[in-house]
Amino acid sequence: MSDTYTLYNPTVMEHFMNPRNMGDLKDADGIGEVGAAACGDIMKISVKIQDGRITDARFKTFGCGSAIASSSMATELIKGRTIEEAMNFSNQEVVDALGGLPPVKIHCSVLAEEALKAALEDYVKKHPESARAQLAVTA
Ligand code: FES
Repeated sequence: MSDTYTLYNPTVMEHFMNPRNMGDLKDADGIGEVGAAACGDIMKISVKIQDGRITDARFKTFGCGSAIASSSMATELIKGRTIEEAMNFSNQEVVDALGGLPPVKIHCSVLAEEALKAALEDYVKKHPESARAQLAVTA
């Protein structure tokens, strides 16, 4: 096996080879797209929100293996969370759930955090009334 593969643990490899939640969400309530200045990779996360909770999430990532594994894990982790919980989502959760990433690949997980937050901001911008009410209810 090449050094590229030995950089990653089996969980990262599994999410890279069999990514969960790949694609677009029809009628997404929020869409966030961000790019990494360091490498030029791009990540898009779409979310469906019902009664203040993320009921579904999908991603499209043009990037490295750990960016794909990070998107896959992030979309799994955020389903079922309230908007407020998701706003506090951190890339460290992705890193921990993946069992660690090589130091030079940490920014790939940051991309997942940023894409999710951009999707939530998009939701709040498009649905200000519901977002305000939902945030007040869950506060
Ligand atoms: S190397 Fe840039 S997102 Fe992975």
